[in-house]
Amino acid sequence: MKMKKIILGLVTAFSILTLSACGSDKKATVDKYLDKIKDKGTLTVAMNPEFAPFEFQVIQEGKNKIVGSDVDLANEIGKALGVKVKFEAMDFNNVLAAVQSGKADIAISGISVTAERQKNYDFTTPYYIAKNVMIVKKSELASYKTVADFKGKKVAAQKGTVQETVVKEQVKQADLVSLTKNGQMINELKNGTVSGVVLEEPIAKAYVAANSDLAISETIGFESSESDSYAIALPKNSGNLKKEIDKVIDKLKAEGKIETFVSDNFDLSQKAK
Ligand code: ARG
Repeated sequence: MKMKKIILGLVTAFSILTLSACGSDKKATVDKYLDKIKDKGTLTVAMNPEFAPFEFQVIQEGKNKIVGSDVDLANEIGKALGVKVKFEAMDFNNVLAAVQSGKADIAISGISVTAERQKNYDFTTPYYIAKNVMIVKKSELASYKTVADFKGKKVAAQKGTVQETVVKEQVKQADLVSLTKNGQMINELKNGTVSGVVLEEPIAKAYVAANSDLAISETIGFESSESDSYAIALPKNSGNLKKEIDKVIDKLKAEGKIETFVSDNFDLSQKAK
């Protein structure tokens, strides 16, 4: 009888211990990232600010400032979480890695959601849909009417972006030139080093509006895919952080604010030129 009681007591004590251990474990994986950001009081955002109207740089009061619709979105998230927002500028091919290494808490950079990226990152609900277009020299519009016209020609895409895949898979006979800087792609197109540049439409429109010698081909279209939607990249298992950010995105989308951010920043990018 006594023995039985002792065993029962031990079993109960053991299960309480394991249960509570499980409980805190679960909290640790679900809440870790959100808690970390709130504890620091700062949300660090990785981005490549060479992508107007989403993120770009302007000179305000003699100082370089990062602006754009992704910046406005990040500031809304900061407000909702009650923290300051800090931007880390870097090349696009380092933006996602910054989230994995912990250099940044999240990445907002017009990032397309792909199955490959989903293996290593969580993504928020999408906040924008953009299709790909081809930019050519206005004077050469007539020579490049279809993707087949790029046979043996150089077509540029930004390094580390889905546009590299678009060129490889949909402009098959062209030679892909991967460049780190979007500004360089545009310069190489202007001086004839490359014959075409693939970018998403809002960014292409911003470059074309600022460069009267360039044009978007109206006859070349690309297949759309799931990777046409932009979302924010988070570390894997971001649990509550994703929930909080999704709430902000859903609200902004419902109010039509994202569209406003994009068009206001498009105008700002043109004035800044
Ligand atoms: N949407 C494309 C991608 O995710 C291009 C993004 C480039 N963004 C930038 N800020 N340069 O691959």
